Amino acid sequence: MSHIIQIANLYKSFGKTKVLQGIDLNFEESKISVVLGPNGSGKTTLIKSILGMVIPESGSIKVMGTEIQNQWAYRENISYLPQIANFPANLTVQELVNMITDLRGKAARDESELINDFGLGPFMKIRLTNLSGGTKQKVNILLAFMYDSPILMLDEPTNGLDPVALIRLKALINRKKAEGRSFLITTHIMQLVEELADEIVFILEGLVYFKGTVTSLKKTFDEPDIEKAIAKILLKNNVV
Ligand SMILES: Nc1ncnc2c1ncn2[C@@H]1O[C@H](COP(=O)(O)OP(=O)(O)OP(=O)(O)O)[C@@H](O)[C@H]1O
Ligand SMILES: [Mg+2]
Repeated sequence: MSHIIQIANLYKSFGKTKVLQGIDLNFEESKISVVLGPNGSGKTTLIKSILGMVIPESGSIKVMGTEIQNQWAYRENISYLPQIANFPANLTVQELVNMITDLRGKAARDESELINDFGLGPFMKIRLTNLSGGTKQKVNILLAFMYDSPILMLDEPTNGLDPVALIRLKALINRKKAEGRSFLITTHIMQLVEELADEIVFILEGLVYFKGTVTSLKKTFDEPDIEKAIAKILLKNNVV
């Protein structure tokens, strides 16, 4: 079994807020790993640390075997869907896609298929500021998937999506997984976890409290669903 991302003893604080307090974690290749944890538990901070957008105080992060500190070339291998996409308001969807294509310096692979799948055709000439929340999220998905990267990190990818878009997104993720891509996903939607996760990682107070399959989580805490198992972890640690 090979590890696509290896994290050891990772610490990160923002001022007095201790966010990551010794995270040890390996993510497996060609699997869907879902990172769970309460609001503010550090999921986005963890993802941004892997991307080099947040610089940890200490610890090690290896992506595809290479230590990422002071490196940038490895980011070519990662596609990222941010939790909050700050798109340039006055650009149209097409202009944004063109801008990303220019920045990447190569043509996108799956652009037209994604535009079709997520019904974005009629919106390509609309300015981003005028899009609905769900449509903006579809643009976020388009940008994350239009280049075929080995690693995809999706921070709350279902945010605001309607049921049809949700079905399309799940199919897309499964298709890419079947092609060997590795996923790191955060979500608060337990249905999505049930349907997609090969492995879940539960983060609390800056540490990994559980890592394993959905089945093993339920078994460990003797609960029929994920929410109840997680509630038990929180109760046990006096968090609620
Ligand atoms: N740039 C920053 N400056 C100061 N504090 C920050 C910064 N980024 C994150 N934090 C703090 O770090 C903590 C973890 O935030 P993070 O966004 O990683 O949580 P999360 O697990 O992704 O939460 P959510 O489920 O709400 O998305 C929070 O207390 C947050 O306020
Ligand atoms: Mg977050």
